[in-house]
Amino acid sequence: AAEKEALKDRIRRLLKEKEAVLVAHYYVDADLQDLAEETGGCVSDSLEMARFGRDHPAKTLVVAGVRFMGETAKILSPEKTILMPDLDATCSLDLGCPADEFAAFCDQHTDRTVVVYANTSAAVKARADWMVTSSIGLDIVEYLHKQGKKILWAPDRHLGSYIQKKTGADMLLWQGSCLVHDEFKGIELDLLRAQYPDAKVLVHPESPANVVEQADAVGSTTQLIDAARTMDATTFIVATDNGILHKMRAAAPGKHFIDAPTAGNSATCKSCAHCPWMAMNGLQNLADVLEKGNNEIHVDPEVGRQARRAIDRMLDFAA
Ligand code: 13P
Ligand code: SF4
Repeated sequence: AAEKEALKDRIRRLLKEKEAVLVAHYYVDADLQDLAEETGGCVSDSLEMARFGRDHPAKTLVVAGVRFMGETAKILSPEKTILMPDLDATCSLDLGCPADEFAAFCDQHTDRTVVVYANTSAAVKARADWMVTSSIGLDIVEYLHKQGKKILWAPDRHLGSYIQKKTGADMLLWQGSCLVHDEFKGIELDLLRAQYPDAKVLVHPESPANVVEQADAVGSTTQLIDAARTMDATTFIVATDNGILHKMRAAAPGKHFIDAPTAGNSATCKSCAHCPWMAMNGLQNLADVLEKGNNEIHVDPEVGRQARRAIDRMLDFAA
């Protein structure tokens, strides 16, 4: 414990010394989330992380999350130094959508508006007309659908088919998935709900359809935390990375949160829904990266300029 406090003090001091700001996602270690808030950085969903990083005057941003979040920060602020505790922190959606295969897919369907999820590489975003996050994907596809556009969607098939069902848009889906959310099980969730009939179910839309169908609220991490705070219930079943529970409990004191089952009985499943790449962010490598200034994110400037158009469209739409 003393060692932990010493590391935290070192991070606080280094952030000041280097005039750096910490931008964290809700799935990273609770200590990192708390440090981000306490030191004037932010902890939020992907959309807010992008906006916060773009608007903050600091010259150095330390992004505690996964690689696409660091890349988005760099694309929006090429003049800033973007550091990450571990550059190998990737995402199964990003890995499952290689830029060359994606470009070939787009080439076969040039009549479609290309909408990609934030969880992709800069090169994939460079090929897109729009980038969206889970908080705003539904609204943007609805807007495009109303204009009569046909859509090519990548990479998350569950989020894509959820949006497709909600909007009725013509969407051709890339078949990617998130290895964390893909594990939530509809039948087991149904059984768990029978044990807690008054519980409300909060679901991230990267989850399979038979899980999303049982949700009382579907949304981004920030939207799910808001739902926990505002919904009139005392017990919630949560189908997303369990890193979120730290903020959920703080936002809704007195309420009770249960992990949605990934396999078998949730009671036996202590930490199954946790992203292995988000887990690569820790106090030690955060302190080290601040000290040494290594692990800098680079994005090819031309690729970055191309990708920025798709990201700016979303941010302008959201404004
Ligand atoms: P949010 O934008 O909802 O925070 O989602 C990011 C993510 O990676 C979910 O798995
Ligand atoms: Fe990617 Fe899933 Fe991890 Fe989110 S939880 S970063 S979508 S692998």
